[in-house]
Amino acid sequence: MCGIVGYVGHAGAGQTGPDSKAHTALDVILEGLRRLEYRGYDSAGIAVLADGRIDSRKKAGKLTNLEQELAADPLPSSQTGIGHTRWATHGGPTDRNAHPHVVDGGNLALIHNGIIENFAEHKAALVADGVEFLSETDTEVAAALLAKVYNDEAEGDLTRAMQLTSQRLEGAFTLLAIHKDHPDVVVASRRNSPLVVGLGDGENFLGSDVSGFIDFTRRAVELAQDQVVTITPDSFAITDFFGNPAEGKEFTVDWDAAAAEKDGYPSFMQKEIHDQPEAVLQTLLGRSDIDGRLTLDEMRIDPEELKKVDKIIVLACGTSAYAGHVAKYAIETWCRIPTEVELAHEFRYREPIITPTTLVVSLSQSGETMDTLMAVRYAKEQGARTMAICNTNGSTIPRESDAVLYTHAGPEIAVASTKAFLAQIVAAYLLGLYLAQLRGNKFQGEIKDILADLGKIPAKIQTVLDNAEQIQALAREMKDTQSVLFLGRHVGFPVALEGALKLKEIAYIHAEGFAAGELKHGPIALIEEGQVVFIVVPSPRGRDSLHSKVVSNIQEVRARGARTFVIAEEGDEAVKAYAEQVFYIPETQPLLAPLLTTVPLQLFAAELAAAKGYDVDQPRNLAKSVTVE
Ligand code: AGP
Repeated sequence: MCGIVGYVGHAGAGQTGPDSKAHTALDVILEGLRRLEYRGYDSAGIAVLADGRIDSRKKAGKLTNLEQELAADPLPSSQTGIGHTRWATHGGPTDRNAHPHVVDGGNLALIHNGIIENFAEHKAALVADGVEFLSETDTEVAAALLAKVYNDEAEGDLTRAMQLTSQRLEGAFTLLAIHKDHPDVVVASRRNSPLVVGLGDGENFLGSDVSGFIDFTRRAVELAQDQVVTITPDSFAITDFFGNPAEGKEFTVDWDAAAAEKDGYPSFMQKEIHDQPEAVLQTLLGRSDIDGRLTLDEMRIDPEELKKVDKIIVLACGTSAYAGHVAKYAIETWCRIPTEVELAHEFRYREPIITPTTLVVSLSQSGETMDTLMAVRYAKEQGARTMAICNTNGSTIPRESDAVLYTHAGPEIAVASTKAFLAQIVAAYLLGLYLAQLRGNKFQGEIKDILADLGKIPAKIQTVLDNAEQIQALAREMKDTQSVLFLGRHVGFPVALEGALKLKEIAYIHAEGFAAGELKHGPIALIEEGQVVFIVVPSPRGRDSLHSKVVSNIQEVRARGARTFVIAEEGDEAVKAYAEQVFYIPETQPLLAPLLTTVPLQLFAAELAAAKGYDVDQPRNLAKSVTVE
């Protein structure tokens, strides 16, 4: 997600702080943005307020581009400012779309992290009011709305204007604003997006996380949902969106700067596993209305063409391919369109059958995987319509596809994919429901019910995470194991494959995933005394025969000496008799279960690799994006 820094301080402030030197707004903001670079971004910008004027500089690309701009065209010295590193969602990574957005004739500057769902309606009203927009972003709309509220309703009270504006915005947002009328004030607001206050001596700070100001102070105040905060050099005041005073929770940051980048987790992978409720929430945000009608506004393929689609081919590699396998079950169930999942590097060498009514869907976290890109290009040459499900705005694969559905998992730093995997599955589900809606395979009420169940998934993932210690303790106990097998059936089969891949790629252990039904056709020969086997068990509320068959599989391997560890739905008592340990996940629709059953296997792999002393984030021989064939 985006990096955010705000600063306000008396001239000379900072001499009693950790670095014992006076700070300008530029010093603090640039240092904070550097600390926040780990969050991933594709543009950066700063705005400062000095002598009654707002000045800003912003550039696409890395922070060095902004620093070069600042060297060539310096900002005036200032004690009040805001800074931002942007991870593009609405609108590509360009200078114009970068933040801050300066509006109202230079009177107000705003930066934003998140997604404003109802920006289109506000934009239409503002355009009707004569406002001209320079960018494609939802942020510029929020800035223009704030300026209008400031001028027309708040009578020059910036805090009041932020409160009124925040009441009218839906979705996820952290907003920071400065106004030329208020030389030593930064006002901020948050809903479904993080914001913390840093407390100094004669200076105060704002950050999307403590990394934004950890070099200057370790005293922080966490803001709760739907709060507005106003900082000056000597004060901070918190209210709700209606002006009622509120308290923030003060704490002292005891992490070092490196740990702060991981929110205190030992690795980015473990942080990203715990980011999954947010990744799923953000990917769902803004894609359906209250009636359950899907609005995939990035879908640039004519709905009439989509109605004619008679085959879907999913192209991907590695973990992303397993996301495709999970999605296949849902798409075929909901849309009744034959769906093939192909390893991209195999696809174009097998003379695939492609027609103009074939929809080729690529899944890629990076959007730069060469195997997948070359397969997409081949499919286009053969006349298919192409759609990218991707986590990196503006990357090559979506740019070369006819349509895109971005996942909003935020930048994924660890090589081993976790939150992007769940977000890809969610995005593929949204595509399946969209097609079912277009083609009438599902009643609107049915789609609304499935979306409602999807909306409950973030909290259910959190429940699994809250019980992480059980499987993490097992991982530490098993750090010397040499071989682990994973069994699954139906949507649990690709989860078994993904569980095995995680263990292979970060713990360097021989691991293999199988369809549980395949056991008697060969793999059961692998079972010997002490063989560790994880079994992902379908819900007993699904097709009953599946559940009983998998319970039989557990018996078969246990009878031959296997150590059986079972992932099962809360309340499933039948598995207990044959499991050394059961890791329960909350109940959900069988097709949505992979969003929950995957999480214990991610936790297991990450903890076991850490117990072996390996680099969990940068495993040997691997790269985050495989940009060569
Ligand atoms: C997953 O943990 C691996 N990093 C790898 O299999 C990855 O999923 C694959 O290389 C595809 O990458 P992409 O999603 O960026 O295209």
